[in-house]
Amino acid sequence: MVSWQCHKYSLIFLLILACSARVFSLQTLAHSPSSVRPSCPDHETLRSLNLSYSIFSGQVPLEVSKLSRLSVLDLSHNDDPSTGSRLRLKDPSLERLVRNLTHLTYLNLDSVGTSSPVPTILTNFTALEYLSLTQSNLCGQFPSSIFGLPHLEYLDLSRNFALEGFLPEFQPKSCLRKLYVATTAFSGEVPSSVGRLAHLETIDLSDSGFSGSIPSSLGNLTKLTGLGLIDSSFSGDIPFSLANLTQLEHLGLSDLNLDGPQQLHSLLFNLNKLKMLVLLGMNLATEIPSFISNLTALEFLCLSENQLIGQIPPWLMNQTRLKHLYLDENHLTGPIPQEISQLVNLEELSFTNNGGLHGNFDPFLKLQFLTLLGLDGVNLAFPEDIATNKSYPKLNSLFLRSCNLAEFPQFLRGQDELETVSLGHNQIHGQIPQWFLNISTESLQTLDLSQNFLTAFEDPMKMLPWNYLRMLDLRGNQLQGSLPIPPTSMQIYQVSNNRLAGSIPWQICHASALKYLDISNNDLGGQIPDCISELSHSLVMLNLRGNNFHGIIPRSYRKSCQLKMINLSQNQLEGRIPRSLVNYSMLVVLDIGQNRVNDTFPSWLGSLPNIQILVLRHNNFHGRIMDRSKISGHFQSLQIIDLSHNFHSGDLPSEWL
Ligand SMILES: *[C@@H]1O[C@H](CO)[C@@H](O)[C@H](O)[C@H]1NC(C)=O
Ligand SMILES: *[C@@H]1O[C@H](CO)[C@@H](O)[C@H](O)[C@H]1NC(C)=O
Ligand SMILES: *[C@@H]1O[C@H](CO)[C@@H](O)[C@H](O)[C@H]1NC(C)=O
Ligand SMILES: *[C@@H]1O[C@H](CO)[C@@H](O)[C@H](O)[C@H]1NC(C)=O
Ligand SMILES: *[C@@H]1O[C@H](CO)[C@@H](O)[C@H](O)[C@H]1NC(C)=O
Ligand SMILES: *[C@@H]1O[C@H](CO)[C@@H](O)[C@H](O)[C@H]1NC(C)=O
Ligand SMILES: *[C@@H]1O[C@H](CO)[C@@H](O)[C@H](O)[C@H]1NC(C)=O
Ligand SMILES: *[C@@H]1O[C@H](CO)[C@@H](O)[C@H](O)[C@H]1NC(C)=O
Ligand SMILES: *[C@@H]1O[C@H](CO)[C@@H](O)[C@H](O)[C@H]1NC(C)=O
Ligand SMILES: *[C@@H]1O[C@H](CO)[C@@H](O)[C@H](O)[C@H]1NC(C)=O
Ligand SMILES: *[C@@H]1O[C@H](CO)[C@@H](O)[C@H](O)[C@H]1NC(C)=O
Ligand SMILES: *[C@@H]1O[C@H](CO)[C@@H](O)[C@H](O)[C@H]1NC(C)=O
Repeated sequence: MVSWQCHKYSLIFLLILACSARVFSLQTLAHSPSSVRPSCPDHETLRSLNLSYSIFSGQVPLEVSKLSRLSVLDLSHNDDPSTGSRLRLKDPSLERLVRNLTHLTYLNLDSVGTSSPVPTILTNFTALEYLSLTQSNLCGQFPSSIFGLPHLEYLDLSRNFALEGFLPEFQPKSCLRKLYVATTAFSGEVPSSVGRLAHLETIDLSDSGFSGSIPSSLGNLTKLTGLGLIDSSFSGDIPFSLANLTQLEHLGLSDLNLDGPQQLHSLLFNLNKLKMLVLLGMNLATEIPSFISNLTALEFLCLSENQLIGQIPPWLMNQTRLKHLYLDENHLTGPIPQEISQLVNLEELSFTNNGGLHGNFDPFLKLQFLTLLGLDGVNLAFPEDIATNKSYPKLNSLFLRSCNLAEFPQFLRGQDELETVSLGHNQIHGQIPQWFLNISTESLQTLDLSQNFLTAFEDPMKMLPWNYLRMLDLRGNQLQGSLPIPPTSMQIYQVSNNRLAGSIPWQICHASALKYLDISNNDLGGQIPDCISELSHSLVMLNLRGNNFHGIIPRSYRKSCQLKMINLSQNQLEGRIPRSLVNYSMLVVLDIGQNRVNDTFPSWLGSLPNIQILVLRHNNFHGRIMDRSKISGHFQSLQIIDLSHNFHSGDLPSEWL
């Protein structure tokens, strides 16, 4: 079971991933507008270009690189997530763009696609005060002397997964106030000289490759309001000097040693300005620490993955400033207090996968600002009379997996902003009601109804009603009727282990983003539509096993092909294995077992560099099996081959064994 929390949920392949918890950074709260402090130069000579938060896209024009007296250049956030378009720096490159802009004091290229290293020439930009390059696809080694620029106050490199670098020895005269290196490939130890950065207010080193111990000199940085050390590879103890950081408003720690709960208490009880506290994966193995009741400014509290025991304490219901509360993946038991409805500012609440929580659902409906509710594994009681009500919160993420639900929760009727809904592993029987097919049709992206007892769609429609759905999981139900046509946005379509019948509608071939198609173990039949090969540029996994498909296996026409797994076993497919498979260079698994394929041994598959599993059992393969040594590529990665119930003539050459 993958855990997930304290953050946004991202759809990465099959999983609603996991401690990307682990991918949020202090900036969620610490990035208040006041921290964006434009420089304050002499207005006589100021040259400023600010095109931020617009909808420009494509290449940054070369002309910008000629504005050699520019002091302020802000091209940030010209991105449109819905279309994926954004500004790019290719020609001119980042290096060429800035080469002549030697007077820059402020450079912000957040979300501008650079795909290049940070140019070393920037180390000569001695006037630079503000440098922000988040989410810019930076790569290569960051020139560490940039940290030493005499006037640099603000440096943000976060969310550049491929940007490598290390922290240098810092000098006492440094002006650095804000330093964000979260979600990068930075590594190495944090030098003790970090304690010399007397002006430092925020440092976020989360989700990067830093290692070694956390320097106790951090405790000297008494102006620090934000400290992020989540999910890097630090080891050892938490330095006790951190208890002196009484101005801290944002603190995130994970995976560090603690000498028991008492140490945590003495470390944190004095930090009463904390607005955000993240203690992730620290194996606390205690009750929820009661000193937290004294941290009355808390807005964001994450105590996930800590083996916490006991009940949810009543005092927590007095933390009325809380906007985010995550207690996922612990061993908490007992009731969720009704008084949870007092936490009226909650926007995200998640208690998933604990030891045995139970509670009524109605208090959550009083939390008007709630957008995310995670209660997987909580034994929930739904009062009879919950109908729709305009005053209910508008959720965008709802996780009610394994909650003992017996029917679709009625309050969903009024929900028209949902993006993610999980109702899997419950006891929902009968039809998927008509009204459910009408919720959030313009917003829903992920829907999990797997492992229930669903029998059909009340209104047998051809097209699924959700126009932007990317992931649908209906596995392990008792669904009858035909296979619904997915919208073109669909990426992961899983309906295996049902009783769907009829043939695959050809319109499925319009789902050109499809990565995973699993319709195995149904009663589907007919021929596999030829056009399915058109999906082979996006498909990674194709599982049609255990149906009644007949006719020949369609050939592929595409050159580019991502397919890693093809499972066509237990059907009635005939003819030969299409020779076009020879171009499926990513293929790892090919299972055509238990069909009626009539072919010779496909020695030509031996050139596929990655194929590990080849199952041809129970078909009509005939002729001799070639010597492996004579086959081109000779199946270099093969681990499992099953040829049984075929090949009535000839011997199996011994090198196969
Ligand atoms: C550029 O404009 C944006 C939006 O108005 C503003 O938030 C930002 O502070 C400006 N940048 C500078 C350097 O003034
Ligand atoms: C940079 O400035 C120099 C001298 O001012 C000029 O010759 C050169 O063309 C400029 N380069 C770019 C890329 O604008
Ligand atoms: C920085 O400036 C010095 C002196 O002007 C020059 O020699 C050096 O090449 C410059 N460095 C880069 C990386 O351009
Ligand atoms: C912290 O500051 C004190 C006094 O300024 C100094 O003596 C000490 O060495 C510093 N500690 C570290 C670890 O830098
Ligand atoms: C906290 O600061 C005080 C005064 O600067 C110092 O005496 C004390 O040792 C510090 N405590 C820790 C735990 O570093
Ligand atoms: C909360 O703070 C008060 C006053 O500082 C203190 O007496 C009390 O013990 C604290 N409570 C907890 C649970 O730490
Ligand atoms: C919650 O706050 C109220 C009012 O301040 C107080 O009377 C009550 O004792 C608190 N409850 C808990 C469980 O701390
Ligand atoms: C809707 O909720 C409000 C506030 O909770 C309540 O007063 C009202 O009676 C509810 N209306 C219905 C139709 O349930
Ligand atoms: C479907 O939902 C829309 C808006 O959410 C509503 O106007 C319409 O009446 C609903 N249709 C049915 C059949 O429930
Ligand atoms: C084919 O799919 C079924 C499950 O649908 C699986 O049990 C079987 O192992 C798959 N074949 C291979 C070779 O993975
Ligand atoms: C494999 O791809 C090559 C290059 O696109 C193409 O010429 C060839 O016909 C393909 N082979 C088969 C068997 O489809
Ligand atoms: C397999 O194909 C060959 C010719 O391609 C044919 O002679 C033979 O009868 C076929 N075998 C079966 C079992 O269909």
